[in-house]
Amino acid sequence: MLDTPHPTPAAPTLDQGALATALSGRHFIGGRYVPARSGKSFAVVNPATGIEVARAAEGDAADVDAAVADAARAQKEWARVPARKRGALVHQCAALLKEHQEELARLIALETGKALRTESRVEAGVVADVLEFFGGLGSELKGESVPFAPNVLSVTLREPLGVVGAIIPWNVPMLLMALKIAPALVAGNTVVVKSAEEAPLAVLRICELMNRVLPPGCFNMLSGFGPECGAPLVAHPLVRKVTFTGSVETGKIVAKAAAEKLVPVTLELGGKSPMIVFADCDFAKTVSGALTSMRFTRQGQSCTAASRIYVERPIFDAFVAEMEKAVNAMVMGDPLDEATDIGTIISEGQFEKVQGFIEEGKRTPGAVAHECSAMPTDPALKKGLFLRPVIFTGLDGSSRLVREEIFGPVTVIQPFDDAEAVLAEANDSEYGLAASLWTNNLKVGLDLAHRLEAGLVQINQNLVVQANLSYGGVKSSGLGKEASLEAMLEHFTHKKTIMVNMG
Ligand code: NAI
Ligand code: MG
Repeated sequence: MLDTPHPTPAAPTLDQGALATALSGRHFIGGRYVPARSGKSFAVVNPATGIEVARAAEGDAADVDAAVADAARAQKEWARVPARKRGALVHQCAALLKEHQEELARLIALETGKALRTESRVEAGVVADVLEFFGGLGSELKGESVPFAPNVLSVTLREPLGVVGAIIPWNVPMLLMALKIAPALVAGNTVVVKSAEEAPLAVLRICELMNRVLPPGCFNMLSGFGPECGAPLVAHPLVRKVTFTGSVETGKIVAKAAAEKLVPVTLELGGKSPMIVFADCDFAKTVSGALTSMRFTRQGQSCTAASRIYVERPIFDAFVAEMEKAVNAMVMGDPLDEATDIGTIISEGQFEKVQGFIEEGKRTPGAVAHECSAMPTDPALKKGLFLRPVIFTGLDGSSRLVREEIFGPVTVIQPFDDAEAVLAEANDSEYGLAASLWTNNLKVGLDLAHRLEAGLVQINQNLVVQANLSYGGVKSSGLGKEASLEAMLEHFTHKKTIMVNMG
């Protein structure tokens, strides 16, 4: 139901540069592209070349007001659309996004530096899958009848909360957004998303595409900086629910602001996910599992990255050697090249932060830094934010590299001798997002799985977030769950009780 004409091509395009230019300088509010009220914009940079590829609209409180007002208007009508019909429309959006999968993959690779084959194309596919999943859940928005008294009919209903404010990060922006908007919309809410300043383009195009199917105002997109655009969205009186993915530090600011208004908040924050490898594991599968677990193809920029690996001593040396060999075989290069396994770090700020950790690790007495893979040689990439993956040994639990989220291609491998001791080390963390165990002894594996402090524990695999599996951390890793039916019901509806006295 788009208000035409739009600056962007109607059909899928594989010219990501031209698409980035066409998306420049605009929010998407009330079914159309609009510039920032202030007229201001900021640069979107390709981190593989250092070249500016677009300008993003620099949103502030005035843009937030406009978007939330439209979302609030639209919500009244949207909530009256039958739930299964809302789901069917979200399902239809999934089909449209599938048609645009390659386009979105190329665009996200351009703005984030994530490799097309190993990461960007996968993310674009999973987004459609998440929309399909939630699109099928409309009929689950049901209530109960309560046996209150013989002559009283007492029933509960699931009602939407209203306008949802969603704040997303740059590492997997399309997928992390889908986990919020799909359940919110199917449940009858409308949404205003504030994109991450480093990656505003692909999510903006998704917003446009979905607005071809959804009524105007149901899904709105703002770009801008955290304090200037994110904070007013969280604080806006008409925003009745806040959902945030990002750092612990910002998550706390968001939670405090939501508490001021007494609105519910879902937080998906960081992690320091342990991977525990027993000597009886399937060795080759576990080494390759470590590469996936560490998300080396995403430069380790993942909240579930296995950035501390504990290996039982008898296989420790062999494991480190094989892992080093395997990471060495990965190709770092142009994110848009099909041969590339590993792309770039997102921004200079993150690059410096990760390098700081690496330098600190190298300075620690006894530490060994195994630097893997090779820098790309293409002169066009000489300003690219490429960083060789590092596997550290010789560090222990006192190191900041073992305690803090690095969010880069850096992991620390430590030996262990005893299951109880390694469990204690794994749980000795501020975080509790995910963990994995690698063993053929299911008795030991299940026992530890029960006692690990984490929202998601996997044995002999370490998949990324999947539709239909409840996802979310304990401790400082967050509040609430995403990706599942329960996420839609618990976090995007409230339960109303209606009683009829028939006596
Ligand atoms: P961040 O948490 O500051 O940014 C995430 C989002 O929050 C962005 O859209 C940002 O504009 C917004 N934001 C910032 N300040 C805000 C405020 N006062 N009110 C409302 N919204 C605000 O994360 P950043 O600075 O990009 O990365 C720093 C570290 O955070 C990373 O090194 C990593 O350790 C962690 N991180 C974790 C992520 C996860 O998936 N759990 C994702 C991104 C970062
Ligand atoms: Mg920040």
